[in-house]
Amino acid sequence: MTSTDMKRIKIFDTTLRDGEQSPGAAMTHEEKLRIAELLDEMGVDVIEAGFPISSPGDFKAVSEITKIVKRASVCGLARAGFKDIDRAGEALKGARQPRIHTFISTSPVHMKHKLNMGENAVLEAVGASVTRARNWTSDVQWSAEDATRTVPDFLCRCVEVAIHSGATTINIPDTVGYSTPQEYFEIVTMLRNRVPNADKVIFSTHCHNDLGLAVANSLAGVLAGAGQVECTINGIGERAGNAALEEIVMSLKVRKDIMPFATGINTTLLSKASKLVSNVTGFPVQYNKAIVGKNAFSHESGIHQDGMLKNVETYEIMRPEDVGVNATSLMLGKLSGRHAFRDKLENMGYALEDAAFEDAFRRFKDLADKKKHVFDEDISALVDDGFMRGQETIKVKSVRVETGTGIKPQATLILSVDGEDRHVATGGDGPVDAVFRAIHEAFPHTATLQLFQINAVTEGTDAQATVSVRLEENGRTVTGKASDTDTLVAAAYAYVNALNKLLVKREKQAPEALTVAR
Ligand code: KIV
Ligand code: ZN
Repeated sequence: MTSTDMKRIKIFDTTLRDGEQSPGAAMTHEEKLRIAELLDEMGVDVIEAGFPISSPGDFKAVSEITKIVKRASVCGLARAGFKDIDRAGEALKGARQPRIHTFISTSPVHMKHKLNMGENAVLEAVGASVTRARNWTSDVQWSAEDATRTVPDFLCRCVEVAIHSGATTINIPDTVGYSTPQEYFEIVTMLRNRVPNADKVIFSTHCHNDLGLAVANSLAGVLAGAGQVECTINGIGERAGNAALEEIVMSLKVRKDIMPFATGINTTLLSKASKLVSNVTGFPVQYNKAIVGKNAFSHESGIHQDGMLKNVETYEIMRPEDVGVNATSLMLGKLSGRHAFRDKLENMGYALEDAAFEDAFRRFKDLADKKKHVFDEDISALVDDGFMRGQETIKVKSVRVETGTGIKPQATLILSVDGEDRHVATGGDGPVDAVFRAIHEAFPHTATLQLFQINAVTEGTDAQATVSVRLEENGRTVTGKASDTDTLVAAAYAYVNALNKLLVKREKQAPEALTVAR
């Protein structure tokens, strides 16, 4: 069967909305734009760029993402209240293909405890919200929050009202990750069979991973006739996350023999997208993660290696190149020039403007002075760090640490805060403690340290260290990340990266439960 004979499934990416809601996953504006650009290049059909009413930052992100995407539809989330919908409509003004995604809870537990609304009031809100959204755009998606714990008859009535009011996509969230593949299949089948005009809309899956079933449930939805899958890169999202985009796309690609569905995704960009999202959020990808984990294509046991040498199909169901993992990586060193460096960046899929290229090249040369071989992983860390250290409010200008046996560690730091240099020198219980105390003195804050983690980017004692720092302030957590051959320097950058993210997150209000304010 060729891909033209197969049903086309839309990929709706919500990394920038549901993904960004993960505890600790705040993204700066520039980071959101970079992710949106890559999703667009990768062939994602719809990018859910944010929740415009939740903060000025989300509004700005949705609005600017509409200007940079070339192919995808851009979507903004809104509760059922008119203020939310109008804010989303405003943010999407100027988009070539704007989509408003409006939702309300439909399960008994949510209606009673979260909304304090009865069935009739919810039905009325469904009709009013979809009608309001249709005044802004013809592309309206409606979601029944907690659909999988909703009474089936009531779910059918809600979907009927949404379709009647003009919704073009009907999304069936498994909001709390409670469903199973068989059950989810039956819910989508029921809606398609029972609701009048169900054949006029696209059904969509949105599955959370609390029981580890998000991808299986989404695929069951597709088999039941859903034409859109909502997912996120690396499966990030509320609590245990959402269905992972890379797993959905590769499952459909590898098992097209039993799932004859095609997506528009260029799968060779999956690995790059995974690394970008991991760097931006500071969430490491587990080594054994399907498709994009470090070990996803490694064969350790002798029997497997022997089989692989005889024929790769013995143990490999897809090729690393299919997901953008290079089989061999050409190393660079201190004699490599601009030309080789630019070639390498292009092969790795980075297109840097002149100033960013010069900055990356300078830092590559510094790194090559300290490290004999510079691997692809080093270059990714270096380029991604460069983006993160761009236009931040707080910057590390210099850091020096004196430490050793028999002396109290002492950190000397220059921190630039909104362009003003602050000089401090402080002691600590250990060298990392001294660095963090110095930052605290230069930029007093109430955030507390939740996690400090060091990973080597490559092998060897000259490897760069990637440091992750998680901070918590008033129930909000963020993770900062940075790499350097000097672990203490990386620690300083990572801490400051987390502080900058906290500043972004401070302006974001926690969206309260729905109000149907008109
Ligand atoms: O999980 C959920 O129910 C959601 C909705 C807003 C679609 O994210
Ligand atoms: Zn969700």
